[in-house]
Order: sequence, then C-alpha cells, then structure tokens
Amino acid sequence: MTKVLIATEKPFSGVAVKGIKEVFDAAGYEVAMLEKYTEKSQLLDAVKDADAMIIRSDKVDAEVLDAAKQLKIVVRAGAGYDNIDLAAATAHKVVAMNTPGQNANSVAELVFGLLVFGVRNFFNGTSGTELKGKKLGILAFGNVGRNVARIAKGFDMEVAAYDAYCPAEAIEAAGVKAAKSQEELFETCDIVSLHIPATAETKQSINYDLVGKMKKGGILVNTARKEVVDEPGLIKLMEEREDLKYLTDIKPDADAEFAEKFAGRYFATPKKMGAQTAEANVNAGIAAANQIVGFLRDGVTKFQVNK
Ligand code: 3PG
Repeated sequence: MTKVLIATEKPFSGVAVKGIKEVFDAAGYEVAMLEKYTEKSQLLDAVKDADAMIIRSDKVDAEVLDAAKQLKIVVRAGAGYDNIDLAAATAHKVVAMNTPGQNANSVAELVFGLLVFGVRNFFNGTSGTELKGKKLGILAFGNVGRNVARIAKGFDMEVAAYDAYCPAEAIEAAGVKAAKSQEELFETCDIVSLHIPATAETKQSINYDLVGKMKKGGILVNTARKEVVDEPGLIKLMEEREDLKYLTDIKPDADAEFAEKFAGRYFATPKKMGAQTAEANVNAGIAAANQIVGFLRDGVTKFQVNK
C-alpha cells in the first residue's frame, strides 16, 4: 500500500488534516502523521517507508533523503522551497514540488496586521499614523506580492513594486507602479514589504545600503525569509537611524539584540504565522495531497521544482 507521511513540525489545522486524509483515503493510500517533532531522528525514522511526503518548512536534506528509501515525491505545502535540497532530491530520483499561491492571501493579510500594529506604535496608546495615502513598495510581484497590492488598494495606499523576474508591463497591468530597481523602490516608498525567495542571489541582499535609502520614518516588513536580510547591517542602520522600524514574521538570528536595542520599533512574531490560517492550511495541504496523487497515479509533474 502506498504510504504518505505528513511531517509538519508546525502542524496544519485539524480541518486541513481531515481534508488531506480524505484525498488519500479516496486514492487508497495510507497516511502517517509526524507533527510537532523536536528531533531530526524522528523524521529520519518516520520517513523510512514513506512513498510520498508532505512538509511545510521542515528541512529535507541529503540525510533525510538517504533515510527515505521508498520516497518518490516530496511536496512542500507552501511557496518557498529553500528547505529542500533540490540537488539531493534529484540525485535520489525524488520529485520535489511546491504549491504556489495556495497560502498567498494568508501571508498578505498578515503584512497588514503587522503594518497596522507598527504604524499605531505597537498599540502603546500614543497617536500613530494611518496607512491611507502612504506609499507601499512590494519587493517581488509573485502570488503574495500581488495579494499585498490588492489589499493595499483597499487601504487607499499608493502601491509600487519591483521584481527582477516580472516585466514592468505585467506589474503596471495589475494597476501597480513599476519601480525601475529595488533601490528606487526603497528610495521612494514609506514602507517596503519583502516577498523575495531565499536564493543565493537574494540572501543578505536587504542590507545597510539598500534599507538606508528609505525615507524618514520608513518601515521594513518581512514575511518572506530571515536569510534575505543582512542582520548586522540592519542593526547598524537602525542604531544610526532611530526613525526606522522593522516588523518581521521570521525571527532573526539576532532577535534578542534587535529586541533589546530597538524596543518600540522592532517586532517579530514568536513563530512564523504568515501561512498559519485554517484556509491556507486547507488550500496548501489539499493541493499537496492532490499533487501527490496526480504524480503517483498519472505522472503529473506540474509544479515540480527540481529537474
Ligand atoms: C511559504 O513559503 O509557503 C511560507 O513561508 C509559509 O511557510 P510555513 O508553511 O512554514 O508556515
């Protein structure tokens, strides 16, 4: 019998797990759950006899793939797949997929949760500002960036975006001003929201010089990945510029230092919350389940991210 492992250190909502199980029940697959695990050894053990696996930000490296002797497919229920060693997956003849767009609205809504909290001075009772009329810069115009743009318009914000891989015409077609470069985006916007993946090119790219281009009172929001931010550079900048705020859904490695030095203008969620809604879990989880059945039964490789 085909066995699917759902390995989620940060579990899906119950309703999502129910929906995922229904897909596999209908296909006649067995499901094993590994939730809230604390040791890698638990994953190495659970994956031994799995034919397929659904993960979230769980790390799938060469060691996990070595242990997964039966594995044919791993689906990251979500957008970013920097947690999968793609070369190792290919070497092990394992197909890796993501589920693009399925949790995008959830992440985009959190951007505004963080922003309202930020501009109202973390609800400390003092007068803050409104988002209306402010210029929001969206760095990378993928599924999340597009949802952020849609919601920002409801707040009556001016919206601009830059995406190295998306032509300006496509950005403008969505009713968003296309910036010519990421430098221009940081220079001209009151708030910049990061939606870039963590790649060799983007890691540490949000640095002292770039963020330093922001106007007085600038706010940087990160619901993407901690790795894209050059933490020492941002700390140095925020020490020099007491007007800047950093709001993040991914705790930096230097969280304690940020929290100590920048009280009132730094906030990190205790655990990454962007995709942590019932809706996003259902959308991404069930899409992942359907993609597994589609691949194992019909050979469908849409959304494969390794070659
Ligand atoms: C993603 O890449 O889809 C998001 O960062 C969500 O990650 P999560 O599933 O770990 O919450």
